[in-house]
Amino acid sequence: MKTVDLIRKKRDGEKLSRDEIQFLIDGYVGGKIPDYQVSALLMSIYFRGMDDQETAILTDVMAHSGTMLDLSKMKGFPVDKHSTGGVGDTTSLVLIPLLAAAGLTVAKLSGRSLGHTGGTIDKLESIPGFRTDLSREEFLGLVERTGLALADHTADMVPADRLLYELRNVTSTVDSLPLIVSSIMSKKIAGGARGIVIDVKTGSGAFLKKLEESRHLAQALVAIGVHLGRKISALITDMSQPLGRMVGNALEVREAIATLKGNGPKDLEDLCCALGAELVLFSGEISDHSQAVEHLRSLLHDDSALKKFVQMVENQGGNPAVVDDLGLLPTASKKVQIMAPRSGVVRDLDALSIGRAANLLGAGRFTKDDVIDPAVGIEVVRKVSEHADKGEPVAILYVNNQANEEQAKSMVLQAYTIADKEVNAPKLIVERVTGD
Ligand code: URA
Ligand code: CA
Repeated sequence: MKTVDLIRKKRDGEKLSRDEIQFLIDGYVGGKIPDYQVSALLMSIYFRGMDDQETAILTDVMAHSGTMLDLSKMKGFPVDKHSTGGVGDTTSLVLIPLLAAAGLTVAKLSGRSLGHTGGTIDKLESIPGFRTDLSREEFLGLVERTGLALADHTADMVPADRLLYELRNVTSTVDSLPLIVSSIMSKKIAGGARGIVIDVKTGSGAFLKKLEESRHLAQALVAIGVHLGRKISALITDMSQPLGRMVGNALEVREAIATLKGNGPKDLEDLCCALGAELVLFSGEISDHSQAVEHLRSLLHDDSALKKFVQMVENQGGNPAVVDDLGLLPTASKKVQIMAPRSGVVRDLDALSIGRAANLLGAGRFTKDDVIDPAVGIEVVRKVSEHADKGEPVAILYVNNQANEEQAKSMVLQAYTIADKEVNAPKLIVERVTGD
């Protein structure tokens, strides 16, 4: 086989076989095929696309390019959740212990914040002592004994995705559906889960802003998961405004703890129960959808999920006393209230602007090497459909470094549109995409 022939084949819109895809991925990961040839291949895929079968093969081959986790011996049904990324999206912090409390196995590999969206690793690392750099043995040992653990992605897993993603970034081939789908799903497949739920965000704070694009991605992710024998569904959910009320690392840990005590914001609780219900149904423990939702809700209100959270924090070296004393979490030195410029109803609260403003305060990274400040962020006191009174706070900035305070302040103010007419809150769960 020659790489140049396979590039030509894809350039001309033909389908690549499993052997051919295997040859290309092995060659690239093994350093035998140079970047310039893979760049041409990626651009050919960008223009010619791949059908579901071809994308499923690419996904499978990528997943097998490194270590695969075997969770088949674990007691509970192994599940995973993926979000395409949102602003103030605290669901993983709640879902990991909630699913474990429901008896499922959660071996969660996660990433750090990049761009305007947060990462679960950064959020949980704001708990003093919490470690995510677990060895493979330590990680799997915790999962086996306690049903849950969270670790950073390691270099030995899915090296093909890491290499391809870097190359896509510099060849303008990131936004190709088969490349996005294979990138996301290869990591889920390598992670060993049998049941997968994908939270595909839609709206200004999402990676894909238009519903139609989000729907295409959701359908493609589900189709590829089904091809590879996984139980999988996707929820398309609103990201036109931030989820919950807190945006920022330690602030979101506080919000997650409140939710695990049954006192969280309703949208966050509802989304966690809806995403979790998909996985509970896949496990076969419960067969009725609304029963699954209510079961999960009860685990948030009877401290079962909170207990699993405490156990996870203890297991990973963190101080479990944070759940009773939120003052143990990093706290910003200054709170700045943003006042409503007029009285009325919040008609729009632009998620992207809030995410960017939180980043400016130091909650996120602009480049991979930036250091985040876990204490800072934004509380959205008023959300869409809620009344605001002139001179009362609509949002609060949590600030440590005052350098960007003024810019963040004006961004948050501009994120709000306050009008006279009553409006409804946006629908949280826009669509459900299933594999059948
Ligand atoms: N997230 C991923 O992991 N990969 C992509 O290609 C896009 C989003
Ligand atoms: Ca939040």
